[in-house]
Amino acid sequence: MTVDWTQRKSTEQLAQMAAGETVLIAGWVHRHRHHGGLVFFDVRDRSGVVQVVVRPDNRAFALAASLHPEWVVQVRAVVQHREKAAVNPKIATGHIELIPTELTVLAEALPPPVSPADEGEVDESLRLRHRYLDLRRPVMQRNLEIRHQALQTARRVLSEQGFWEVETPNLTRSTPEGARDFLVPSRLAKGRFYALPQSPQLFKQLLMVAGIERYFQVVHCFRDEDLRADRQLEFVQIDIEQSFVDRQDIMRLGEGLAVALAREVAGWAVPESFPRITYREAMDRYGSDHPDVRFGMPIVDLSERAADGCVPFLDQAVKAGERVVALHFPGSLSRKQVEELSQASAVDLAWLTVEEGQAKGSLGRFFDAESAQLWGAASGTLLIGHGVGDAFLQKVGALRLRLGREGDLIPSRRHEFVWVTDFPLLDWNAEDARWQAVHHPFTAPLDEDAPNIERHPAEVRSKQYDLVLDGHEVAGGSIRIHQREMQERIFAQIGLSAEEAAEKFQFLLEAFRYGAPPHGGIAFGFDRLVMLMAGMTTIREVIAFPLLSSGVDPLTGAPTAVAESQLRELGIAVRPPTAPGRGDLA
Ligand code: AMO
Repeated sequence: MTVDWTQRKSTEQLAQMAAGETVLIAGWVHRHRHHGGLVFFDVRDRSGVVQVVVRPDNRAFALAASLHPEWVVQVRAVVQHREKAAVNPKIATGHIELIPTELTVLAEALPPPVSPADEGEVDESLRLRHRYLDLRRPVMQRNLEIRHQALQTARRVLSEQGFWEVETPNLTRSTPEGARDFLVPSRLAKGRFYALPQSPQLFKQLLMVAGIERYFQVVHCFRDEDLRADRQLEFVQIDIEQSFVDRQDIMRLGEGLAVALAREVAGWAVPESFPRITYREAMDRYGSDHPDVRFGMPIVDLSERAADGCVPFLDQAVKAGERVVALHFPGSLSRKQVEELSQASAVDLAWLTVEEGQAKGSLGRFFDAESAQLWGAASGTLLIGHGVGDAFLQKVGALRLRLGREGDLIPSRRHEFVWVTDFPLLDWNAEDARWQAVHHPFTAPLDEDAPNIERHPAEVRSKQYDLVLDGHEVAGGSIRIHQREMQERIFAQIGLSAEEAAEKFQFLLEAFRYGAPPHGGIAFGFDRLVMLMAGMTTIREVIAFPLLSSGVDPLTGAPTAVAESQLRELGIAVRPPTAPGRGDLA
């Protein structure tokens, strides 16, 4: 007999039903148990679970008793309201149960290696190996729903403001985002390769030259870099570009989108616009260009105080050009804990605290209680380190985060966006002994700093802006260079000769000769944003089929070896992997 599936009820609909109504449901057996001579089983679908109760006099009893978790069933049933004591307030259908009039098994199932009904920790490679089971778990279904809603909201918000969604190619040539490319060999042109886009950066700029004015795209990007909790080899951006704009315009646009997502999808109360701090402030105060500003404990500069000579080795450090900085941890720490922190952070830490009116800690002997208080050690523990440059500040920033996490200083229900602006345009690549673009070589310098590009490259700030949420960089962009002369100066400064620049970016530079409007844009890391909105700690939890951090997909087995014939067709020979210490076999 065919079934009219349009009659099938969701759990939201079931929750509204009156006792005595007849319903059709279908889904997976979530939990199954015998109790007091009855069979109870929960049926789960995307909308939730509902309990079915089968008494021994029911025609379906024998079949109901033989069910197993994850079998697919169809149930016609009568709705019954539960007695008060039996109501389960945790689920939407907790006040009803279903009494089957007809039970059909639509598909049997093997015992699941990853149980959708189990909320405990399961090994991640097993979860990904059976992702279709893992995705049945209610938490994963919720994550995908949030992702879906975020996608729809982003598309709506941008379309309403006149942005067109334009697709750009995946088989293309290298884009300058600074990671390693994924290469795709060409069969038609043997020995040549496409690169998968690290972002559609150059295409979106071409679209501005093409007069599209307002572009966006939900786009897959590919970067061959080390994986982390918030990094995948393949990830999704909401990529945006607009003509005739300045920084304020794109930042306001980005704010509007972030606010819509945070309020509508995550249900967070966030302000209309976000605080802005410069890269310099972010590094000095938080030791990070993507600071977590949900908690205080900023880095305090004590160099001036240290120069008074009261702690000889700190005085010497200042004289040697180092900075003396401190973190004021609100709790007490033992000597052993400070040693551990020192080792883990690779910062040589001294510490100072005031206990029972006396200065204590590794610096205690240099202070009395009063002078210790002047340094800031009135309560809690002052952790003090010294060093030079942003690399040192980053170590202190990592220590701040660790103390924040371990000291429970981060309010996990609070969510804070912050813009970071005025990034350096260039930084020194010591390995290659050359200047390189901090963002990408098409980012414009601040107008007032542009004259210094050749003379003081380290001091030139750019029109880059990053949006940070709870310590994660969730978006980044910039106003672009649209004038040829400026572009050539930047290329020259990063050591790219005219020929090399032409070789790499000929098509863009040529396009710029045909009338390029001033333009700028931004790209949101969509997976990261959804991860934070869903309250997850890795982006793998909000991607349907992610890779493990080793880059392997346990489900399909990718990456795999390919047939010799496929390689021959592509004109490719694979060298055997080089054994450690044996040099190159080829
Ligand atoms: P950027 O390189 O800053 O800028 O990337 C934009 C945002 O993408 C996210 N992101 C990632 N997410 C997951 N896995 C990764 N491997 C990964 N790499 C980056 C981050 C980041 O903020 N074309 C420029 C944008 C522009 O200038 O308009 C770009 O791609 O959240």
